[in-house]
Amino acid sequence: MASDGSVVIIGGNRGIAREIAQHYADAGRAVVITCTDGADAQEAASAIGGRTTGLELNLTRPETIGPVLSSVAGPIDYLVIAAISRDDNKVRDYDIAKALELVTLKLVGYTEVVHSLLDRMTDDTAIVLFGGLAKDRPYPGSTTVSTVNGGVVALTRTLATELAPIRVNAIHPGIVGNSPYWKDKSLDHVIARTPTGRLTTMADVTDAVRFLLENRSVNGVDLRVDGGWMIT
Ligand SMILES: NC(=O)c1ccc[n+]([C@@H]2O[C@H](COP(=O)([O-])OP(=O)(O)OC[C@H]3O[C@@H](n4cnc5c(N)ncnc54)[C@H](OP(=O)(O)O)[C@@H]3O)[C@@H](O)[C@H]2O)c1
Repeated sequence: MASDGSVVIIGGNRGIAREIAQHYADAGRAVVITCTDGADAQEAASAIGGRTTGLELNLTRPETIGPVLSSVAGPIDYLVIAAISRDDNKVRDYDIAKALELVTLKLVGYTEVVHSLLDRMTDDTAIVLFGGLAKDRPYPGSTTVSTVNGGVVALTRTLATELAPIRVNAIHPGIVGNSPYWKDKSLDHVIARTPTGRLTTMADVTDAVRFLLENRSVNGVDLRVDGGWMIT
């Protein structure tokens, strides 16, 4: 690692991002996690342990992001932005409010997080943005999800260009079978279509995020982590 700067994980109270936070906390790093509720954030931070702190942050209110993140100490070595609110939204029955929430969260919110923390980043800072494979494999109701995940691809490229030498990469997991959202759902059809014959796990995604953050020549990459699901 370049230094002992902090690791900021947006959405680190649960799900995949929590596993990433746990990894870096266990490695002795100062970790900052966020979620939409301050008490939840603090509870998760103390359960993760080590030098972890929790902040309340709502990416659907981008004007509040800078003030909230002003308390994060620099330098920041790694920034992971993984927050999501799921929008099951069909074009024939379009819910504008729900669509605006997700578009604001993933595109404006993600960008404003980077903007707000930039003054504490160094040339060696690395950023990972979370997209997802709904961008390539849509399903009825995924219109907003597919659109914003496609937007993450473009956002990764423009940020890597504008912020160089800071590295910016994106990760696009397939269905993560043991993540809280999917763990109780029937996924046999996904396994049957996955060449590895198993579902991607949160540990697999955490390992891939570490690679994107820590390999100093990996930049501007959209990394698929799906057991080969997309080649079938
Ligand atoms: N799980 C999968 O199979 C899968 C597949 C492909 C891509 N992904 C991507 O991987 C990332 C993590 O997914 P996950 O399933 O681990 O997530 P998750 O368990 O659903 O957790 C979502 C996180 O986002 C936070 N969040 C929700 N609304 C927010 C808002 N308005 N402002 C700020 N934070 C907000 C949540 O905080 P609260 O607890 O306060 O709500 C929580 O920390 C997401 O970007 C997702 O699109 C996941």
